[in-house]
Parts: sequence; structure tokens; C-alpha cells
Amino acid sequence: MRIAVLNGPNLNLLGTREPEVYGRETLQDIEARLRKVAAELGVEVEFTQRNGEGELIDCIQSLRGKAQGALINAGAYSHTSLAIRDAFSAVKVPFVEVHLSNIFAREPERRHTALASGALGVLCGFGPIGYELALRGLVARLSARA
Ligand code: DQA
Repeated sequence: MRIAVLNGPNLNLLGTREPEVYGRETLQDIEARLRKVAAELGVEVEFTQRNGEGELIDCIQSLRGKAQGALINAGAYSHTSLAIRDAFSAVKVPFVEVHLSNIFAREPERRHTALASGALGVLCGFGPIGYELALRGLVARLSARA
């Protein structure tokens, strides 16, 4: 089983970006953590980070037939991008929406997500561990379907 892990704008700056909100782990640290979990679960993970909405959509379109599922932290696009949700619907790749912070406890404009209604699940507020929990949940759901 192949799972794509997509990260959106500004997540390349994790580690130094607002550490009081997002912590001090870098995206590379999160990737290393997820690779261990993936090995334990017997799945392949492929990581991508893009700052542009169109670039993320190109990545999602390329998943058709190549990935059985995806985790996405679309950063600020999560709150606005119908285009990202549409891209997942178009390629029929089930996805879990992940956020490091608890977006529902933040500013009002972060409390809505444009992706959630198309997602298999949403996980937020657990910091870097959230990616790991989301991967476990996604793989469990996909395995139950197969
Ligand atoms: C985020 C939350 C978003 O509101 C923000 O724009 C991000 C990170 C999170 O992981 O908590 O870039 O997705």
C-alpha cells in the first residue's frame, strides 16, 4: 500500500516557524518519525511539500492509480481551497486532513476547513504525533476496505 504525505505552504519552515504554536520539530523530523511507523505498518510513504496551491493540486492529480491514500496538511489552504478538495474527489484518493495545531481553538478564520467534508477523517491539535496517528488511522480504514 502506498500513502502520499503532502504538506502545504510554510510547513517547510517548521522548527523555526512560530514554535510556540507549531513546536520545534522540523518537517524532516516528522518524515523520519512517519517512516518508522510506515515500516511498522508495512506501507510505503512518499513525502512532498509545496508552497503553491496549484503545485499541490498537480501533486494530487498525479496520485491517481499510484497511491491508495493520502495525508495532507494543506496549511492555510485548508481553510479556503475547494480546488484541493476537488482534486482529491477527481482522482478518488481517500485522504486524512492533518493539522499540528488545534485549528478549532484558534482564530475564527481557522475554524472552518474546506477539505474536511471530503476527508475520511480529520486530526488536529496533537503536534507532530498527529501525522503518526493519522497514518495509523488511514491505513486501518483502507485495510478494512480491502
Ligand atoms: C496548520 C494550521 C493552519 O491554520 C496554518 O495556516 C498552517 C498550519 C497546522 O498544521 O496547524 O500553516 O495547518
